[in-house]
Amino acid sequence: MDPNTSGLVQKLAEAGQSHLLQFWKELSPKDQQELFQDLQGIDFLEINGFFKSAMETSSSTKHEKMDGRMEPVPREVLGSVTRDRESLKDWEVKGLDCIAQSKVAVLLLAGGQGTRLGVSYPKGMYDVGLPSHKTLFQIQAERILKLQQLAEQKTTVKCCVPWYIMTSGRTMESTKDFFSQHKYFGLDKNNVIFFQQGMLPAMDYSGKIILESKGKLSMAPDGNGGLYRALGNQGILDDMQRRGVEFIHVYCVDNILVKVADPTFIGFCVQKGADCGAKVVEKTNPTEAVGVVCKVDGHYQVVEYSEITLATAEKRSSDGRLMFNAGNVANHFFSFSFLRDVVQKYEPQLQHHVAQKKIPFVDDQGQLIKPEKPNGIKMEKFVFDIFQFAKTFVVYEVLREDEFSPLKNADTQDGKDTPTTARHALMSLHHRWVLNAGGHFIDENGRRVPAIPSLKDGTDLPIKCEISPLVSYAGEGLEELVKGREFQATLMIDERGVHELVKNGV
Ligand code: UD1
Repeated sequence: MDPNTSGLVQKLAEAGQSHLLQFWKELSPKDQQELFQDLQGIDFLEINGFFKSAMETSSSTKHEKMDGRMEPVPREVLGSVTRDRESLKDWEVKGLDCIAQSKVAVLLLAGGQGTRLGVSYPKGMYDVGLPSHKTLFQIQAERILKLQQLAEQKTTVKCCVPWYIMTSGRTMESTKDFFSQHKYFGLDKNNVIFFQQGMLPAMDYSGKIILESKGKLSMAPDGNGGLYRALGNQGILDDMQRRGVEFIHVYCVDNILVKVADPTFIGFCVQKGADCGAKVVEKTNPTEAVGVVCKVDGHYQVVEYSEITLATAEKRSSDGRLMFNAGNVANHFFSFSFLRDVVQKYEPQLQHHVAQKKIPFVDDQGQLIKPEKPNGIKMEKFVFDIFQFAKTFVVYEVLREDEFSPLKNADTQDGKDTPTTARHALMSLHHRWVLNAGGHFIDENGRRVPAIPSLKDGTDLPIKCEISPLVSYAGEGLEELVKGREFQATLMIDERGVHELVKNGV
């Protein structure tokens, strides 16, 4: 483990990264060993190349120029839950059919660090405070279970929706432990497959890798587009092929309303013969932090909220709506053969995006400095950057109130995308399911609560109502439980029955 004899010193010198060994002599043997191993595992010339091209493509002038090259999604590739009502049933049947034949897999991107939410554990383990206290992971697992059941009812043959979960160096162990402690939430352990994305070092503006302590590089996951490298080098594509997976639904961990393996979305994409599809909601506020699906230079792409100029974000069409209103909800459809081509052919062409960050570092004296303004960059690939390679690309528009409420930030008053907004969105959806199935809510005086909650005591809290995904995936099958009945909140419907927590004093 001698940096000299092993050639490491020379390797670092050639790459202009010799400073990484500047505290070598001060390190304990254990720290030396760890640093040595970390450095040996890095291809510095490759990283320098990433830095160079990422910086070239991220210059601000490029964003300005991008505006003129952006076009909205053309109508002909668009499907919509509101405009295509007559087709929804067909698409759902098609999707369920694919699920019943075990051709569909789901893939969860869960390698992020949850920095904005401010928790030290993986976001999927977060409890937003629902009556059941289910975590995001549990809600998603139960939706998969229910969907398998719905598909099996059609065919009477047992089917399986494998769940691939991408974690990063920082989230792998805790995610796996959590699943094992909770017995995989009732799923077959063999069908929950964890794999790990890569990490990249943070760099200062001159391309030097940043040390976060004397013996440790500042490392971060390589973005959710790190998926494609990981699919290849972690054997995930092979696993999919072995299982006969043909269609993959890829989604982000933080959306409490996510319709995992949504049969209607899958059926829509399959019927259109698409190799790649994106689910969107209408973006109505120019400054909302969602990417927009659009075309750039004739190729499909998501232009991220951090990469669009305000002037373009504010542009409106003649109908008054935002011109770039296809808000990316990070739910994507890929055919297996498309993913395989991406992994085998296109991945190296994907560019890293640059995020300027305040990155804690040790200075030349070995002092830890926490900068107050950005001092360096993290490089990330994005999951949607492969849209440009699709032969048949489609977009599917859904309703925000039914399908999109992401958990991004910690609770603050009037906060956006917080545990409170996520909890309210789910309870409000389930409230509507009960009403649509013919149930009613009454207040403590026995009076019917209006369908649209009014301002009460200065608050407009939703009715407390939660329906387990094990009972209903998307509002189906509730009539026999609620039709013609009156309930007092908190209402919970789960596999054990219908419970009114207040009435029963629970
Ligand atoms: C993401 C989308 C954005 C969309 C928004 C909707 C990307 C790049 N951007 O933005 O277009 O409008 O969601 O909510 O997809 N992750 C990894 N590895 C990483 C980094 C992130 O697996 O290295 C995962 C996270 O765990 C999360 C997802 O990717 O599940 C999204 O990451 P996040 O950083 O929260 O993306 P947003 O900026 O919110």
